[in-house]
Amino acid sequence: MNATTSQAIEPETEAPQAPDLFAKFAPLVKERDNLLAAGVRDPFAIVMDEVKSPTEAVIEGKDTILLGTYNYMGMTFDPDVIAAGKDALDKFGSGTTGSRVLNGTYQGHKACEEALEEFYDMDHAMVFSTGYQANLGIVSTLAGKGDYVILDADSHASIYDGCFLGNADIVRFRHNNVENLEKRLAKLPPEAGKLVVLEGVYSMLGDIAPLDQMVPIAKKYGAMVLVDEAHSMGFFGENGRGVAEAQGVIDQVDFIIGTFSKSVGTVGGFCVSNHPQTDFLRLVCRPYTFTASLPPSVVATATTSIRKLMYAGNKRAHLWENSKRLHQGLRDLGFKLATDEPESAILAVLLPDQEKAVLMWQALLEQGLYVNMARPPATPVGVYLLRCSLCAEHTSEQVEQILGMFEAAGKATGAI
Ligand SMILES: Cc1ncc(COP(=O)(O)O)c(C=O)c1O
Repeated sequence: MNATTSQAIEPETEAPQAPDLFAKFAPLVKERDNLLAAGVRDPFAIVMDEVKSPTEAVIEGKDTILLGTYNYMGMTFDPDVIAAGKDALDKFGSGTTGSRVLNGTYQGHKACEEALEEFYDMDHAMVFSTGYQANLGIVSTLAGKGDYVILDADSHASIYDGCFLGNADIVRFRHNNVENLEKRLAKLPPEAGKLVVLEGVYSMLGDIAPLDQMVPIAKKYGAMVLVDEAHSMGFFGENGRGVAEAQGVIDQVDFIIGTFSKSVGTVGGFCVSNHPQTDFLRLVCRPYTFTASLPPSVVATATTSIRKLMYAGNKRAHLWENSKRLHQGLRDLGFKLATDEPESAILAVLLPDQEKAVLMWQALLEQGLYVNMARPPATPVGVYLLRCSLCAEHTSEQVEQILGMFEAAGKATGAI
């Protein structure tokens, strides 16, 4: 045997078979297959073939009223918003191809941050590529190992993911429960860093947080406070700044997180604050730094929309009217809603289980109405619901039409 030949070495034991990484999804796959086998359509695979306005689309050839978008203020087809986007596309091209901290900050990104500073009357604004990244980035950068994030159990996934990324200790309190928040805070070491994270409107049930009670409690225990106003911007408060403004505690809030994907009508996220070192976060916040910035056309649409939302009192009033009318009408028909009163532009119709929720969802779609079907983990355990989100551009006639569709679908499926 010379140096170049060798005998094959037989392994003494067979290599262990690595598990299929998809195996963990098997129960979910089975549940979904069973549901679809019953002949219902997949509520998570809807395609809008055409979108005609903030409230109307064509889905599988059928004219459909949209009651399941986050387009609360109906800005997506605003002529000024569209013109601003087209102009920026012509002048600055289709994308920045770079991070905000390198080649990806154009004058449009700065103009957008200035519009946010004015809108919120705050000293600093940072624009992110999505609201998800804004929460992920700010929560993880502020609260690191050894710090505590005290959050509502029903917090959005982006808030939880921010805690995981930052490696902070998570302390949950019961949803919207003021006493439980205080109990949790009282048990934490006084010298530890603390960030209390709250949301103005909770997007699944459409209920609002008692910020006027919670924010002062957080301050009493020396915590910094971050409020996610994703579902309240443009709609709550005299200037549309959100629930913290409406409840008179905005001056005590350290950071407001928001998104452009709801009332602003495009895509993107932001953080506004009066903290003098806010700008420093740009250098240490990974979801801000290690991703491409928003295209110029997107920031131009966002800027125009934000500026128009400063003077949108009539739209706000009409959205509230819509929300009140639909809430009352659904209750009169016998549907069970998540809130006794209309607290926001989101009305959640509760159904006893997934099958009933999907049947009702499908019956509405066949009538020409699109709503969101929501189930755990997006909703609390055991909660299945149809989430209806109103738009300031829904006409009163559309709201009456929607009620007629709910009545027919409810009767056909036995939901009422
Ligand atoms: C409360 C809350 N925060 C943040 C986000 C993330 O927003 P975006 O769509 O901009 O990523 C959402 C999105 O649904 C949300 O509901």
